Amino acid sequence: MIKATNIHKYYGELEVLKGVDLHIKQGEIVSIVGASGAGKTTLLQILGTLDVLTNTNEGTLIVNGTDTTRLSDKELAKFRNEHIGFIFQFHQLLPEFTAVENVCLPAFIKKTPKVEAENRAKELLDFLGLYHRYDHKPSELSRGEQQRVAVAEH
Ligand SMILES: Nc1ncnc2c1ncn2[C@@H]1O[C@H](COP(=O)(O)OP(=O)(O)OP(=O)(O)O)[C@@H](O)[C@H]1O
Ligand SMILES: [Mg+2]
Repeated sequence: MIKATNIHKYYGELEVLKGVDLHIKQGEIVSIVGASGAGKTTLLQILGTLDVLTNTNEGTLIVNGTDTTRLSDKELAKFRNEHIGFIFQFHQLLPEFTAVENVCLPAFIKKTPKVEAENRAKELLDFLGLYHRYDHKPSELSRGEQQRVAVAEH
């Protein structure tokens, strides 16, 4: 669940986001469409907590019930690890690690035991049709397979 209220973003004098209100419910799939330069990436960076709104005193961003504008940097990093996933188009996976190892990384950061993390990673890879690619490194996977590994990682 994402509930953003009155999000403003300025780059110096330039006002890019002018009081965005957005409510995305659990399980809802949403696309953001707009002209180049309209502010899509800016909004996504803010919704993903990678950037901050300019008016933190008024605007709020509630993700899964937590008001992220009230978290410290450290709390925010932990919150991101547990609640938010990003699928980029490129350079998503660490090249030195296999598919299973890449999927395990967020769990290792959370200090999940190795065997538990690996079993879960394999389940997710199986679910996404990658059961025969556990030990492949990203360079040994197709683009679509790489993206599915990235999905499993989240
Ligand atoms: N760091 C920055 N400093 C100043 N202006 C910026 C900065 N980043 C983005 N902008 C400006 O803010 C506006 C919104 O940029 P943004 O990247 O959010 O657009 P977008 O909707 O994602 O565009 P595109 O479809 O081209 O990716 C643009 O006009 C851009 O020039
Ligand atoms: Mg963009």
